[in-house]
Amino acid sequence: MIIGVPKEIKNNENRVALTPAGVSALVARDHKVYVQSTAGDGSGFLDSQYKDAGAKIKKDIKSTYAVAEMIMKVKEPIKEEYSLIKKDQLVFTYFHFASYKPLTQAMIKSKSVCLAYETVELPDRSLPLLVPMSEVAGRMSVQEGAKYLEKPLKGRGILLGGVPGVPPAKVMVIGGGIVGTEAAKMAAGLGADVTILDVNLNRMRYLEDVMPANVTTVYSNGYNIRELCRESDLIIGAVLIPGAKAPKLITRDMLKEMRPGTVLVDVAVDQGGCIETCKPTTHARPIYIIDDVIHYCVANMPGAVPYTSTLALTNATLSYAIKLADHGWKKACQDDLALRKGLNIVNGQVVYEGVAEAFNLKYTPIDSVL
Ligand SMILES: NC(=O)c1ccc[n+]([C@@H]2O[C@H](COP(=O)([O-])OP(=O)(O)OC[C@H]3O[C@@H](n4cnc5c(N)ncnc54)[C@H](O)[C@@H]3O)[C@@H](O)[C@H]2O)c1
Repeated sequence: MIIGVPKEIKNNENRVALTPAGVSALVARDHKVYVQSTAGDGSGFLDSQYKDAGAKIKKDIKSTYAVAEMIMKVKEPIKEEYSLIKKDQLVFTYFHFASYKPLTQAMIKSKSVCLAYETVELPDRSLPLLVPMSEVAGRMSVQEGAKYLEKPLKGRGILLGGVPGVPPAKVMVIGGGIVGTEAAKMAAGLGADVTILDVNLNRMRYLEDVMPANVTTVYSNGYNIRELCRESDLIIGAVLIPGAKAPKLITRDMLKEMRPGTVLVDVAVDQGGCIETCKPTTHARPIYIIDDVIHYCVANMPGAVPYTSTLALTNATLSYAIKLADHGWKKACQDDLALRKGLNIVNGQVVYEGVAEAFNLKYTPIDSVL
């Protein structure tokens, strides 16, 4: 198959869909890979590394789209890219269709085959192509939180791990899923006194088993959250209710009971946030302060560490890309139920129920296109 890897043109996006190692794996299976010149620069991968791995370099985005049977991307196509996508072309990327109607309409019109990373789903209902970004955001939340706890950045001036003779900082992590687990591990590793709150008792049993001694689990309810808010230095919001907006677990009035310089990192901001006062911020202006409490609510946290994020993403996507390239999308999706769930729009038909529902469009059952 001929695979095209364009440079991401969405504002501030530095990731790329394939590493040189990924190119090498596809080329070894007799596929042809065309990488747009400088596509990997933002993640630290040079054209020369792609060439050495067996890719051919295309000078611009137009020729990269034109040559490819499968486009591998990171972010959803933006307006400038809509007209580059052709009939029958397979586009494998994050789409998040339900949140943006113009993109959905453009992809229906293109008659391409849109396979969305975010809806590839394993039988246990986990989302293997979303997990790596949650891992990155979870680990990063503690790094960012520790930074903003420093006095010059308006924080409480407390070191997460304390020092001998001085107690460590207290970290509350709300939600013990992927983001919360990674956050708790990082905070505990730095020596903080960590509490994870969740509503899933089985998950808390598991966390109790695997976490070090400086991590405690507490059932998540309004009473416990309010109590812990009063004594926490860093609070990380990591809840998710699939398919719904995040519940507002920290309310505006709780801010007044927190100590000045407390840091809130609401990783769940992309689902509306679990902190009432959360509004999305960017890497250019990541924080704002309300009632002396620092709010960090960056909606695309992994974008700040493109080297790590690119490697983590391609570790997860490559095996699926190989199946698609080896067998073509139809056969690959017939054989692999997880990949099949990734199909959202096929030749102008919406085959993912959630997307059809979001915009009141006709839903075509997936089996009829396979
Ligand atoms: N900002 C970013 O850059 C970024 C990056 C990746 C993920 N995210 C977001 O982070 C959030 C968490 O993602 P995840 O992969 O960890 O999800 P997950 O499904 O693995 O974990 C969510 C956890 O929240 C728990 N939960 C549900 N209701 C709760 C409540 N009332 N109190 C406490 N816990 C509750 C669930 O039981 C589950 O354990 C999602 O909204 C995701 O989209 C944001």
